[in-house]
Amino acid sequence: MERKERYNVAVLGATGAVGRAMLETLERRHFPVGELRLLASPRSAGQTLTFAGRTYTVQAAEESAFAGIDIALFSAGAGASQVYAPMAVRQGAVVVDNSSAFRLQDDVPLVVPEVNPHAALQHHGIIANPNCSTIQLVVALKPLVDWGIEHVTVATYQAVSGMGQKAIDALQAETASGDREGTTLFPVASQEQRYRMAFNVLPQCDVFTENGYTKEEMKLVNESRKILELPHLRVSPTAVRVPVVYGHSEAVAVRFAQPVRAEQVRQRLTGAPGVVVVDDPAHALYPHPLMAEGTGDTYVGRIRQDLGDDHSVLMFVVADNLLKGAAWNAVQIAELLIQHA
Ligand code: A2P
Repeated sequence: MERKERYNVAVLGATGAVGRAMLETLERRHFPVGELRLLASPRSAGQTLTFAGRTYTVQAAEESAFAGIDIALFSAGAGASQVYAPMAVRQGAVVVDNSSAFRLQDDVPLVVPEVNPHAALQHHGIIANPNCSTIQLVVALKPLVDWGIEHVTVATYQAVSGMGQKAIDALQAETASGDREGTTLFPVASQEQRYRMAFNVLPQCDVFTENGYTKEEMKLVNESRKILELPHLRVSPTAVRVPVVYGHSEAVAVRFAQPVRAEQVRQRLTGAPGVVVVDDPAHALYPHPLMAEGTGDTYVGRIRQDLGDDHSVLMFVVADNLLKGAAWNAVQIAELLIQHA
């Protein structure tokens, strides 16, 4: 990418939950935005959004909308990415894609700037932003990798905002109604079955795959391996949706190739890039979603030894899924690109 004072940026999916967070993050991190183009489906064309005190009109996405764009941040789902990413690249833009469309392709880097920034520079026009629950997991694991991570067991507690604005609205409506039974508005995934989300916990994020794991669970396995460059890492995931609006939590057990004490893990994580350790049980201080909401950090606490295994340490990892899990990470990738322009 050519070095410039300001870069022309397009946001595809600008009207969605992550798209709005992308705009907010570009502004908060003072990204040097020149021209800004806000793109969505034709349904939203003509709608207005504000950025840095100015009003912008949303346009329907089409090939010509990417002309002159340097960086295109995509968050409109895998289908839209498949259609528009090649168009944007043809027009000379670098695409930072938040969908799952290209994440596991060999020629597409999958990047968390605190973990594998070097990968971002090897792109061929598209850089993939990992799945939200994977990002916070690898931020917490990376500082521990040189002790030899053998096995990661992770159970997630995922916020509904990961399913988009409609899911946030549905949970708020269900919660306000106070009903514990009756017809639910909540879409579990793109399947017929619907459950009530308010006052409930659902062990399904995204659709099931043939092996009995959900797509979200398989993302935790495959994306962690790719980002950490540990192709044989054992990951045992359970992904669970909880009635929280913003912020994913994860109970993580890490088994190392050698004995590792909880105190060593606490020390390593303290001050590690992107990590905030909050771990003071005597004062009931530990991470939780409301603590992480609105921030770009990954919070780690409840760091403790596995009771029966001196090779294993447990911890609780929390981040804002729309920010570090999506928009913040995408903007950090864009920053890497311009730092090396
Ligand atoms: P729109 O608002 O016009 O439907 P969320 O994940 O919060 O539901 O947001 C999804 C975002 O992706 C929205 O901005 C949505 O636009 C946009 N989007 C969805 N499908 C397409 C598409 N085929 N082309 C362009 N934008 C799309």
